[in-house]
Amino acid sequence: MQRQKLIHARQALQQSEARLALASEASGLGLWTWHVPADIIWLSPGYRAILGLNAETRFGFEAFFQLVHPEDRAAMRQGFAAVTAKQPAFEVEARFLASDGSTRTLLSRGRASFSRPDAPYFDSLVGASLDVSQQRHAETEHRRQRDELAHLSRVATLGELTGTLAHEINQPLAAILTNAQAGRLMVDHPVPDLKELSLILDDIVEDVRRATGIIRRIRTLLKKAPPEVRPVIVGELVHETLELLRPDFARRGVTAHATCAPATPCISADPVQIQQILINLLINAADALREQTPLDRIIAVRVRPGATGFVSIRVEDRGPGIPPDRMPLLFKPFQSTKPDGLGIGLSLCRSIAEAHGGSLTLANREKGYGAVATLLLPIA
Ligand SMILES: Nc1ncnc2c1ncn2[C@@H]1O[C@H](COP(=O)(O)OP(=O)(O)OP(=O)(O)O)[C@@H](O)[C@H]1O
Ligand SMILES: [Mg+2]
Repeated sequence: MQRQKLIHARQALQQSEARLALASEASGLGLWTWHVPADIIWLSPGYRAILGLNAETRFGFEAFFQLVHPEDRAAMRQGFAAVTAKQPAFEVEARFLASDGSTRTLLSRGRASFSRPDAPYFDSLVGASLDVSQQRHAETEHRRQRDELAHLSRVATLGELTGTLAHEINQPLAAILTNAQAGRLMVDHPVPDLKELSLILDDIVEDVRRATGIIRRIRTLLKKAPPEVRPVIVGELVHETLELLRPDFARRGVTAHATCAPATPCISADPVQIQQILINLLINAADALREQTPLDRIIAVRVRPGATGFVSIRVEDRGPGIPPDRMPLLFKPFQSTKPDGLGIGLSLCRSIAEAHGGSLTLANREKGYGAVATLLLPIA
């Protein structure tokens, strides 16, 4: 009878082990345990398969640690160090060097056990790891494509602005020429008016600054550099953007002004991409004003601390607003009501905002007419 029970129990155990192995194989999971006092790491066949390790190789912690990508070792040690009897669960994502020379990204979750609740170190760790290399690769590729599209769209926008920008650069250049000619005449005078000459030189310096400012803004937007996240003063960025668009807006008879609440904190963002969002929203607003009377061709940008942890940037116009049936289509790519519109502006801007941990919405203004775009971005 006793023997019969034992056989049953053994069969049940074998069955459950087989099921576990099957489940871990089917899901691509690798299982592992680390017995600390003996420093033995056991790896399931599934785990070995992910990294191409053969069945015989035995691992202690240090030998195993050599498989972790050097750049991820510190994070992994930190992950282990944070495990306590009170917080026995842990999760780390790290890249591993597989035997075929490739790099695999493994997301590992595990749980530690302690011999006593007050023991300073765990004496075993049990976990499961999932190979997320493909997902991470797809995410990187998605980001790369979005950045590429963002760059192309910037180039296209600047292409449209070139006419007015060239005109804008011509103005200071013409002024520099006139001033230089006047200075030349003055120098030839028997008694040159040095005071006047010095004022002329000041004017020239100021105009050169204006021209180089315009060129610098264009170059920043045209540059094809990987996004770089850093603390950004939103008020300054809004001001820069309005400066860039001013000549185009002047041609359309549109006035745009910005207000920035005092003590608005910096945001953490790539300034070029955020400027791109601002440009798109401002051009959309200006487009919406096309049919409005000159008195209504006004855009207001308001920057202020928004919901906790965010800075809110609102772009308000006094255009016709958005008809209810267009609302669901606003952020869909290639949905445009403009004869020359691609319809990618808003969808691109939203994906940039979300990649920064923020959000972008467009609605009709509550009071009066017109639309308001609200961009929320996380504080640095
Ligand atoms: N401020 C606004 N007021 C009214 N309608 C707007 C406003 N902003 C956007 N829209 C509507 O949303 C549509 C999509 O805007 P989106 O910026 O994505 O594309 P687009 O401006 O048409 O083309 P582009 O790709 O050149 O930006 C617009 O065609 C317009 O119908
Ligand atoms: Mg647009």
